[in-house]
Amino acid sequence: MDKLVINGPCRLQGEVSISGAKNAAVAIIPAAIMANNICIIENLPSIEDVTSLNTTITKMGAKTEFLDQHTLKIDSRGMENISATFEEVRKMRASYYLLGALLARYRRAEVAMPGGCDFGSRPIDLHLKGFRAMGAQVSVERDVIRVEAEKLQGASIYMDTVSVGATINIMLAAVLAEGKTVIENAAREPHIVDVANFLNIMGAKIKGAGTDVIRITGVEELHGAQYTIIPDQIEAGTYMIAAAITGGDILVKNIIPTHMDSLSAKLDEMGAGVEEFDDAIRVNATGRHLKAVSVQTMAYPGFPTDLQPQMTTLLTVAEGIGKVTENVWENRYQYTQMLKLMGAQIHVEGRVAITTGVPSLTAAHVDATDLRAGAAMVLAGLCANGETVIGEVKYIDRGYEEIEKKLTALGASIRRVHV
Ligand code: UD1
Repeated sequence: MDKLVINGPCRLQGEVSISGAKNAAVAIIPAAIMANNICIIENLPSIEDVTSLNTTITKMGAKTEFLDQHTLKIDSRGMENISATFEEVRKMRASYYLLGALLARYRRAEVAMPGGCDFGSRPIDLHLKGFRAMGAQVSVERDVIRVEAEKLQGASIYMDTVSVGATINIMLAAVLAEGKTVIENAAREPHIVDVANFLNIMGAKIKGAGTDVIRITGVEELHGAQYTIIPDQIEAGTYMIAAAITGGDILVKNIIPTHMDSLSAKLDEMGAGVEEFDDAIRVNATGRHLKAVSVQTMAYPGFPTDLQPQMTTLLTVAEGIGKVTENVWENRYQYTQMLKLMGAQIHVEGRVAITTGVPSLTAAHVDATDLRAGAAMVLAGLCANGETVIGEVKYIDRGYEEIEKKLTALGASIRRVHV
């Protein structure tokens, strides 16, 4: 078991390069097995979720090879196993994309119930509703989901809730279905566009990804492709907040600045300097006293829920009263208990968290309660006085590539210890 030990406070300064997007990668790897050919995926982040998915598709018969740390060659020609019920699958939320991909290619699939971070109920009813609308039989038995369709037929599907996962999963199935599928009230996250772009390069016919209506015309087969994944919006946001919380000055490189608009606007409102370049953003908080603001999480292009724990942590040391409203997940404030151990003043009631800024946090022994909560603990440790020890680092490793190396290069005193 690993722990991260941070000696704070520190002022971060310099440049950081952002890795490929986790949430695009975990959909693009399952999409690649729909090709029955060779795909080469570039700019994959070097994170645990990618390792788990790679192991998963290998166990299912795909031949994979890392051409370098960030490039994976996937040859799914020999793949015949439509069943993914082993341990790796249960660790990840995104294993649900195997359902859409396998249903598309084999017309049947058997996948263990997805795991992932625990922030309340995480249903997949919209995914299954979409598959049913396309003619699939769906059953759930002893934590295994089975989908099967003699004929997969395009359909008109309205999403009752805006869901990233359901939008992508239905898109995967629809690409190889017969006829047209229309997804209304679709999610618009950058990684949905990324997955659609990859599928289109493979020969799919998808229009409208990035808007709330996606139209897909089914094709008979997909061919192999080479594709570069977009940069990770949430990793980028975490480093932007790291600059703000340490009174630092960081150039966050290799990103798509428009993906960061909701965060850039909030940091600007708080009084940080935010400067945009073609593929980078500089956040400069040197000598500035940041003021608390109100933040509401929403589907893209709103403020991302996956930056909520990091933003709430920043608000605990900003001047005045901050208000956070979590509109996406019902229970995403468990980590605030950890922040309280570090001297933060936070009052949570239902979906709202109220922060009263304190001049500084105090180091403590805390745990990463999930992936982004873990990032929040790292941010708290960077600005707290003394030695912060963070346990359950495995959650952070699911989504952040070489976090201690990147932070050390920015001037942090952070090390990993094996316990
Ligand atoms: C994805 C991200 C996750 C992020 C979330 C919201 C991946 C692998 N994970 O998760 O990091 O926090 O988007 O941006 O990309 N819902 C239903 N029924 C469903 C599906 C979802 O009611 O069938 C609800 C959920 O309970 C939640 C909301 O819809 O309240 C959004 O969930 P969704 O966008 O589906 O999240 P994920 O795709 O699981």
